[in-house]
Amino acid sequence: MAIIAPSVLSGDFAHLADEARRMESAQADWLHLDVMDGHFVANLTFGAPVIAALRPYTGLFFDVHLMISQPERYLDDFIQAGADMLTMHIEAAKQETLSETLQKIHAAGKLAALSVKPGTAIESVYPWLDQLNMVLIMTVEPGFGGQAFMTDMLWKISSLRKEINRRGRDVIIQVDGGISVKTIAAAAGAGADCFVAGSAVFGAQDPAAAILSLRENAAI
Ligand code: DX5
Ligand code: ZN
Repeated sequence: MAIIAPSVLSGDFAHLADEARRMESAQADWLHLDVMDGHFVANLTFGAPVIAALRPYTGLFFDVHLMISQPERYLDDFIQAGADMLTMHIEAAKQETLSETLQKIHAAGKLAALSVKPGTAIESVYPWLDQLNMVLIMTVEPGFGGQAFMTDMLWKISSLRKEINRRGRDVIIQVDGGISVKTIAAAAGAGADCFVAGSAVFGAQDPAAAILSLRENAAI
């Protein structure tokens, strides 16, 4: 069953609580929260205080995508803010202590994920795969919504799915960037099971219909 995670990056930042509740009633599975620091990516969004402020307004699962340098420094803040899943970029995380960092996330009762940018090999997350609940494969350069899906990322999804199956593990494969009714089937076909969608959901007249249609197109 596909997990649909609308990205609030394409929502109205002046009314985040209303946007979260709108997604909840539109049958979103998760809410994807894009944290950007203007350093790891060339854009700035919001941090832990905004997520903490939003937390009381929705029961949606908070899928927090950390596009920040030195993510370890801020993990406690995001855990306390009410994140449910913490996704760090492999390009930003401190690899020497990454295993301990992942243990720390699990010890706090949260799910842990690593993400790869389009230019990063998928094998770079394999040393930690057994400690992960999810791997996020970026299908655009991180930083902005509304970009075109990179079809040349599809092989990464299928290689990762093969490796997860080979290990007999249960790891979610999330894709993020350019997901729409036109691209979701290809990503699902390659083995992705969690789909972030910003403009495709928030830009739609009827978000519930948009989510349903994504779900139908992801069903393979
Ligand atoms: C981009 C963000 C995405 C973004 C996706 O860096 O990580 O989550 O919101 O937006 P769309 O779905 O419009 O490509
Ligand atoms: Zn994202």
